[in-house]
Amino acid sequence: MPNNEAASLPPTPAMAEPDTAPALPAEVPVLDSSAWREYRGQPGKATHNSNHLAVIADQAGVLRRCFVKLAPDPTLPTLLCEALGWVLAGHSGLRRADFAAIVLIDKERLAKSQELTAACLAAPGDLIPAWCSSAIPGQTVNANLKTEKKPGTQFHIDYKTFLNAADSRKIAAFDLWTGLQDRNLGNVIRHASGGYASIDHETLLHDILWGHSPFQPRNLTAWAAKDLEPKKFKAFKSDMARASAGHADALAKAESTLNALLSALLPHAGKRADALGFLRQRSQRGWLAKEIGVLDMGPKEDKP
Ligand SMILES: Nc1ncnc2c1ncn2[C@@H]1O[C@H](COP(=O)(O)OP(=O)(O)O)[C@@H](O)[C@H]1O
Ligand SMILES: [Mg+2]
Repeated sequence: MPNNEAASLPPTPAMAEPDTAPALPAEVPVLDSSAWREYRGQPGKATHNSNHLAVIADQAGVLRRCFVKLAPDPTLPTLLCEALGWVLAGHSGLRRADFAAIVLIDKERLAKSQELTAACLAAPGDLIPAWCSSAIPGQTVNANLKTEKKPGTQFHIDYKTFLNAADSRKIAAFDLWTGLQDRNLGNVIRHASGGYASIDHETLLHDILWGHSPFQPRNLTAWAAKDLEPKKFKAFKSDMARASAGHADALAKAESTLNALLSALLPHAGKRADALGFLRQRSQRGWLAKEIGVLDMGPKEDKP
């Protein structure tokens, strides 16, 4: 947090007072509004929120093309969930954006390029904190979806290819472990260089951090159950169980960063403990396998 602007993160129930707030971990820096260099449009069709693309200068001054998601309502855990999810995804071996940060967005500057939502206009002060992640090269799995009623042949191919890929099982296991609720196909990027990347971890630890929320539960395991043949679905679940064997280790590696994020962004100590307890319990050997009704087979390397 190099200057006093960053130190003036809006004091809110979700964000502790600046003078008492523990620093965010270096992995997820807070960048002041000068980091937002140039507007680059909106993803796809105009969105219901203030998501947009922008050129962002990182801590070292390197310019990065990023997606920026504004979090104007300080009572919602958007920034915390995104940050926890991005850190955990990295330690769990999921593909993710190379770079992420919380950036303070100057409302007036953004308003010159894009209409602000009512929530942004209503937010107090000149700056709105936002989650920022570098653009992953590729396309979302639903990029070729025509309409919900008539999705189109190419969408079906893309969707089935994803369900049959190794990464879909890792992502499904990650979501179940972390209580992520909104895994729609716009939240998975088919990476230009192969494999699939996970984005939008806003609903991570949903039942603890969101409680009652507007999100419709959307779940990859349920889709696989519906859209894969029984034998393939069984293999899907076995792969999920194998992926879960890495969760305890991922949590151990991520824990100090998660603690720093929770301390900085979640004032409620009880909820901090609940969040870590939830992740710890569900990362235990055998938990996920039992949950989805398969044998706990362990990672592939465990096999003789
Ligand atoms: N890091 C990223 N790399 C590539 N595309 C992204 C990235 N972040 C967001 N997007 C694009 O922006 C869309 C909206 O972002 P998302 O974080 O899913 O916000 P929302 O909460 O509106 O669903 C995604 O569906 C995707 O097309
Ligand atoms: Mg999304």
